[in-house]
Amino acid sequence: MSRIATVHPATPANIATAAHILRYGGLVALPTETVYGLGADATQGEAVARIYESKGRPAFNPLIVHVADAAWVDDLAETNTHFHALARAFWPGPLTLILKRKDTCPVSKLVCAGLDSIALRMPNHPVALDLLRALGSPLAAPSANASGMLSPTRAEHVTGLTRVDMVLDGGPCREGLESTVVDLTSERPAILRPGPVTSAMLTAVIGQLGVAGSGVMKSPGQLASHYAPRLPLRMNATRPEKTEAWLGFGPSDGATLNLSATGDLVEAAAHLFDYLYQLDDPERFAAIAVAPVPEEGLGAAINDRLRRAATRV
Ligand code: TXA
Ligand code: MG
Repeated sequence: MSRIATVHPATPANIATAAHILRYGGLVALPTETVYGLGADATQGEAVARIYESKGRPAFNPLIVHVADAAWVDDLAETNTHFHALARAFWPGPLTLILKRKDTCPVSKLVCAGLDSIALRMPNHPVALDLLRALGSPLAAPSANASGMLSPTRAEHVTGLTRVDMVLDGGPCREGLESTVVDLTSERPAILRPGPVTSAMLTAVIGQLGVAGSGVMKSPGQLASHYAPRLPLRMNATRPEKTEAWLGFGPSDGATLNLSATGDLVEAAAHLFDYLYQLDDPERFAAIAVAPVPEEGLGAAINDRLRRAATRV
């Protein structure tokens, strides 16, 4: 089903409408200084699931969370001295910083693809900042292109998505290149994705950088595969064993938790990481049995994640 919205100029009235759409779980394409993003309220799991569905991503890659002010980060992540120095130097701007999630972080676990880290950025674009302030909530936004297509740098390039409720036109993007992604979770900050903020610019502020992949961190593409439950996981299970937790989908009698009793894949994706996390308790269960999830739409990404969790390394 295609649901493509027309492009609207980023007037104050349209920005207010966009914030309203986001508050009700919709998707808004918005300009940033790097590329156009496909935004959803990061605290609403089902809205975030619709981002992956709309982009047709076959897997859950972690998304960047956008904030209107560095102070917003205090509620979301454990900050450190490198964070404060880099945010002061480059925010608002094309620099994404990876920090450890706070336990109380209200951002949906689906945004971080189940990782205990979170990618944060304050965009340097008046429309993005106005929208964030009007929403008053962090915004998850990957580039607003269908999976495998080029990132859009103009409103009219926002195409190929299966759903976007509103496209805010803020003109062409100044940078035209996605933000630099820097991991601040290990001792030595390391660049995970090169971008407009160069390694020389970073070094001038915080000194020498580490090499990505030398520590706990792997390249961003590999990262998602890092999350694995402690318990063995069994897919396509039609019935649980006595000692197993039973993660249901659709009508699953006696499920410990159900991804979606009505068989709704958007709801299931929104619950996936949260429920795996809750069931991954060796004191209560010996393993996690998961009901079959159809391999259609978001089901492909859900099954991809379950397969990785099932084959532990
Ligand atoms: O310029 C940009 O960054 C644009 C605009 C819209 O802000 N956004 C963007 O998002 O490019 P996306 O989803 O296309 O790219 C997100 C990047 C990926 O390389 C992803 O692996 C990495 O950030 N990432 C997100 N969360 C991460 C995490 N917790 N740990 C490591 N890498 C992470
Ligand atoms: Mg992208």
